[in-house]
Amino acid sequence: MTTAYTTDPTTESRLGAAGPAAAAAGFDGLEDGFEKAPYEFGFSTEQVHAGSVADRGYGAKITPLYLSAGFVFDDFAHARARFAGTDAGYVYSRINNPTNAAVEQLIAEIEHGVGATLVGSGQAAVSVGLLGVLAAGDHFLTAPSIYEGTRALFRGNFRRLGIEVEFVEDPNDPEDWQRRVRPNTKLFYGEAIPNPKNDLIDIAAIADTAHRNGVPFAIDSTVPTPYLLRPIDFGADIVLHSTSKFLAGHGNSIGGVIVDGGRFDWSAHPERFPHLHESIHGDDGPSWVDKFGAAKANFAYTRAVVAGRLGTSLSPFNAFLVQQGIETLSLRLERHSRNALAIATWLEQQPEVTSVDYPGLPSSPFHDLALRYLPRGQGSVFAFTLAGGERDAQVLYDAVEVFSRMTHIGDVRSLILHPPTTTHSKLSQAERDAAGIHPGLLRLSVGIENVEDLLADLDRAFRVVRGEDPPSLRGDGGARELTPADGL
Ligand SMILES: Cc1ncc(COP(=O)(O)O)c(C=O)c1O
Repeated sequence: MTTAYTTDPTTESRLGAAGPAAAAAGFDGLEDGFEKAPYEFGFSTEQVHAGSVADRGYGAKITPLYLSAGFVFDDFAHARARFAGTDAGYVYSRINNPTNAAVEQLIAEIEHGVGATLVGSGQAAVSVGLLGVLAAGDHFLTAPSIYEGTRALFRGNFRRLGIEVEFVEDPNDPEDWQRRVRPNTKLFYGEAIPNPKNDLIDIAAIADTAHRNGVPFAIDSTVPTPYLLRPIDFGADIVLHSTSKFLAGHGNSIGGVIVDGGRFDWSAHPERFPHLHESIHGDDGPSWVDKFGAAKANFAYTRAVVAGRLGTSLSPFNAFLVQQGIETLSLRLERHSRNALAIATWLEQQPEVTSVDYPGLPSSPFHDLALRYLPRGQGSVFAFTLAGGERDAQVLYDAVEVFSRMTHIGDVRSLILHPPTTTHSKLSQAERDAAGIHPGLLRLSVGIENVEDLLADLDRAFRVVRGEDPPSLRGDGGARELTPADGL
């Protein structure tokens, strides 16, 4: 199933005309689903056309960048109508903005969701997405392999808010989830491709277990992006992204997005999600479920009450950069994945390497899950481990010239990081051991450069590890990253 995109200049973003009740309920303007397309467009067509809003004044084809805090009311009555929700239009950019609305529609469509909310970072997406569901006194379950920033958020900030997190041990054993469910368990959580170990989870099995217990399954799908995987198609209810990574794709902006699948029945358990059954305005008026229906109540509440009031909005400038990035998403992810598979295959053949955590390799214990969930490619963020421990990892890290030494992923440029001394340094040794983050582990985020050049860079760095003194790829003998002065 896919959705139609519009190039009709009179048609505002179908999800985004949220101006009216912006201040009242905080959000309105949700329409009943997308129009169904008579023809199914391919992903690359959708990524270029979905959500685009034609410029009404000059005919610009690119969705205009509306860098405006507010939007003018024609007169007294117009202002009142916008606030009452009887006039569809924009009010204030913390609540909604035409550029953001276009990008939200684009992401909702390519992710097969019913709505999307852009926020200021991936961390904000996880915070807002989960705080739409969870409140003080609630308990939720998560897969163990998650982004370390998210782990700290759950263990620290959420606990302080009275929300209790519990980690399952084996996320691919439904029984492990089931036996931890309590009366106050409200949500299951996981990551589609956890990094750096790429220990894939069985999304459909976890979603089934969550649904059997009447709770939603939220998933961080930052690494695969909707081009490689659409978790909603496998039963996930809430999909979260750091748009800072592959979606924007060029390492130029921080952002996040929450996508709602619109399939969870938020009306079924009033005692479990009482906030969605309370009056929106604290009067005798309709509740979120009454007004937005069982499928979209959570989306509307999360957007208006959590994102809108906590004030997590994304700058329209960054939204514009996300849209520019998404227009080439399929092309980039194909190249990223192809390069990564070639490098993972090469690394596996190096005598110093004890393991390569890439699910595209037949040797990976997660290869079967990759074949099922990631047939278009297995992404490009993975780890490998050197027998020589931290010493060899350090030598290799310092020797690369094309890979950039950075804590970031999903960039067109190739990046390298030593997790044990950086992203995972706050874990105890026992926790690092349990997670397989050994001293000799390095993480790569493989970019879209020529794979021969990336292999040449790694090959040269391995020779340095072996005690050789290979010439620089640039020919001047120095081991440093390439800079513009190198004439790239
Ligand atoms: C999987 C995943 N989720 C969320 C985040 C947080 O995203 P941001 O840095 O945009 O806040 C990251 C950041 O590295 C990540 O890798």
